[in-house]
Amino acid sequence: MALRTLSTLGPLAGKRVIVRADLNVPLQDQVITDDGRVRATLPTLNALINQGARVVVCSHLGRPDGAPDPKYSLEPVAQRLSELLGKPVAFARDTVGESAHEAVAALEDGDVAVIENLRFNPGETAKDDAARRAFAEELAALGDVLVSDGFGVVHRKQASVYDLAEILPSAAGFLIEKEVDVLDRLTENPERPYAVVLGGSKVSDKLGVIAHLLPRADKILVGGGMLFTFLAAQGYKVGKSLLEVDQIETVKGYIADAAERGVELILPVDAVMASAFAADADHVVAAADALEDTPFGADGLGLDIGPQTAELFAAAIRSSTTVFWNGPMGVFEMPAFAAGTKAVAKALTAVDGLSVVGGGDSAAAVRQLGFTDDQFGHISTGGGASLEFLEGKKLPGLEVLGWQ
Ligand code: 3PG
Repeated sequence: MALRTLSTLGPLAGKRVIVRADLNVPLQDQVITDDGRVRATLPTLNALINQGARVVVCSHLGRPDGAPDPKYSLEPVAQRLSELLGKPVAFARDTVGESAHEAVAALEDGDVAVIENLRFNPGETAKDDAARRAFAEELAALGDVLVSDGFGVVHRKQASVYDLAEILPSAAGFLIEKEVDVLDRLTENPERPYAVVLGGSKVSDKLGVIAHLLPRADKILVGGGMLFTFLAAQGYKVGKSLLEVDQIETVKGYIADAAERGVELILPVDAVMASAFAADADHVVAAADALEDTPFGADGLGLDIGPQTAELFAAAIRSSTTVFWNGPMGVFEMPAFAAGTKAVAKALTAVDGLSVVGGGDSAAAVRQLGFTDDQFGHISTGGGASLEFLEGKKLPGLEVLGWQ
């Protein structure tokens, strides 16, 4: 079944429209370091504003413990939203209390208010159905309809994501609609050749995605910390690089499965080995079968894919029509170990077809390395949500909107 979309809610002028967004942005000393998720809400919010709806935006931020914590206040996010919308945005200092009700009552057609972090209330994330439901009922009193647009949180069965969508007339906003459309194309009939590029530190975080995409992809490229478990599965020594010994057998299974299915599994042929996990550590390039043959010996640790691998990956990416990339290739936050991630990002910008960057870390990486969103087909706002979608899991926040 298809998602219920915004138009199914009918005319919204004068109505109080709750928008469940995912404004869970990285903050440093109350300053937003990547506003991608705030920007991603703009198409839906502008459409509602232009229709004359009275817009009540809600979201979680971080993982506060069910009680107010100034560190996780949405106030700086509301300010950023106001700048991006180019109009005042009211801010309520509570979620379902007096301040929220006052802010909503003061809205005129086309106005916007943000209420405080949903997770300041224990009902939002309660495992107990009745407690969650009770909080959702309180939220429902703030609106006439719900537009669910927080794609990054659709894998959570939480009050504002799931229960509220059952209580109020509800539909997906433009962001969820787009995310589902794009990610669905990666699992159902992708245009070929289809390359899946996986990085990030742990294989164990990616098992479901590898298992689900391996039968669907033509090429799988593995970089990031997880590459060392793949190299170890081939019998190579990896020094002190990140290694998940308990995943070696699983990885051997993937290598065999890929060979049987004729999927090209492209593994690194070289890596950047460093003396320590530090931005100014000594480092050299070593071949994949000689990672311990460096001045650091068995103490060396791999912090990026090597230049030959970067070239190999870039060529495989550029020659594909559909590419999904999740997870940095190395410790991109340190300039000395960012080249692999940069090369992969650059290759994605040259794809003649659909290029998708998925997951919080990869999205942050491309922006931090100076790329802009419009250079890619799509940058997913979901971390865990995108991965669970691509694992073929059922996501409560989508099912409640009609998606099956
Ligand atoms: C995310 O950052 O992936 C989403 O905002 C969900 O956050 P959570 O993992 O704290 O539920």
